[in-house]
Amino acid sequence: QDGYDFVVVSNRLPVDRDVDEDGNSTWRRSPGGLVSALAPVMAQRDGAWVGWHGAPDETLEPFDHDVFHLVPVSLSELEVKRYYEGFSNATLWPLYHDVIAPPEFHRTWWYAYRRVNERFARRAAETASQGATVWVQDYQLQLVPRMLRRLRPDVTIGFFNHIPFPPTEIYSQLPWRKAVLEGLTGADLIGFQRPGDAQNFQRCVRKYLGVQFTKGSARFSEDTADGESTEWTVNAGSYPISIDVESIKELASDPQVQARAREIREELGNPDTVFLGVDRLDYTKGIRHRIKAYGELLEDGEISVENSVLVQVASPSRERVDSYRQLRELVEGMVGRINGQFDTISHTAVRYLHHGYPFEEMVALYLAADVMLVTALRDGMNLVAKEYVAARQDRSGRLVLSEFTGAAEQLKQAVLVNPHDIDGLKSAMLHARDMSDAEARKRMSSMRRQVLTHDVVDWSHRFLDDLAAHAPEHEQGA
Ligand code: G6P
Repeated sequence: QDGYDFVVVSNRLPVDRDVDEDGNSTWRRSPGGLVSALAPVMAQRDGAWVGWHGAPDETLEPFDHDVFHLVPVSLSELEVKRYYEGFSNATLWPLYHDVIAPPEFHRTWWYAYRRVNERFARRAAETASQGATVWVQDYQLQLVPRMLRRLRPDVTIGFFNHIPFPPTEIYSQLPWRKAVLEGLTGADLIGFQRPGDAQNFQRCVRKYLGVQFTKGSARFSEDTADGESTEWTVNAGSYPISIDVESIKELASDPQVQARAREIREELGNPDTVFLGVDRLDYTKGIRHRIKAYGELLEDGEISVENSVLVQVASPSRERVDSYRQLRELVEGMVGRINGQFDTISHTAVRYLHHGYPFEEMVALYLAADVMLVTALRDGMNLVAKEYVAARQDRSGRLVLSEFTGAAEQLKQAVLVNPHDIDGLKSAMLHARDMSDAEARKRMSSMRRQVLTHDVVDWSHRFLDDLAAHAPEHEQGA
């Protein structure tokens, strides 16, 4: 069969579109570690990427862009509502993140999720060569592995879940809990961020599919259309994702970026302490908790608008989903109240920026910040924490990190917090600010060792090597 030897399948294609005044599109490689990690693998292995191009009701033919052969999957406006905004981001996202927001269960959303997953699986099946490796990414596409296995029993299938996998007690709420597990277990290897996520998954499989994993492996079988049966082994384990360390190091050493960092501090009025938060505007990120703690520190007189500032970058995300709209109202209300109460003509308490920025500007912000605040209530990994660490080449800088992130299992020298505990969070922020330079440097050095020796390229190799080692089974008949 003609096709590509290595196929990545994800909800979004790894490119963003710019449209000029005349309506002409140009494509740019999307920022982010996954895309930079897979680009070299794509170039080396004759790879293709199957994904949605981001615009509803538009069909595009496959095209090439830098190292990628891109295979666009189209979604109707109604599918965007039901599959993407609905089932992916108002059912699965809150369910998999500790039900911080209440998940909504609608059958029409589920039908759309199934239909769209089927479309992705077919596109992947058409794109993959005989015996190819197909790597499916994230919670939007959990049904693809089994659908693809039925269409193409010859290919090797990996799946990586970028977000947490919930404990059985929470997962059980999902009316389609069995079907989703059946979907996932079509893969040869299923990767999770933390060992705890892999355990949660294995317990759910045992409870709802009656299959027991031993040392991370389990056998599955299924009757095929021609009355035969097929068997395969599923492996599940943890593969904590990381960042593109090289590109951050490069930007952090760039004199222009360093000059921009100094300029940012000047523009902020050269305060003693710059606190920084950088997140998608998402209720899982604990932005409200962070702002609450900051407001109380101002109120308590522990900090003042003259000596400190909180810069909060909250990039717009999933803006048509209700819980995201509500969060925006809440955050902007809080920021307005705090600034109204504490600002002076010359100083602002919270610089709230509801924009996305180019990566150079983000690295300049990382360099300008004294204390980085990552206070997520639940987060699969949190790459901002790792980016901050990678950017601090002089080993200065302090990181306050929620214990509910995957990153906390690797960055043990951060100042770890439970963001629900506002008093604890306030003390942690002050502790991070006040610790000696020597202690801060010791902690940062140890965190840097971790991040610098485990970048996203290592992550993709570890996963793909394990996938190749587990793969070539695909036996027929048993
Ligand atoms: C998280 C998910 C990704 C997703 C990203 C941005 O990191 O794990 O799968 O692409 O958020 O969200 P969006 O809905 O804009 O793709």
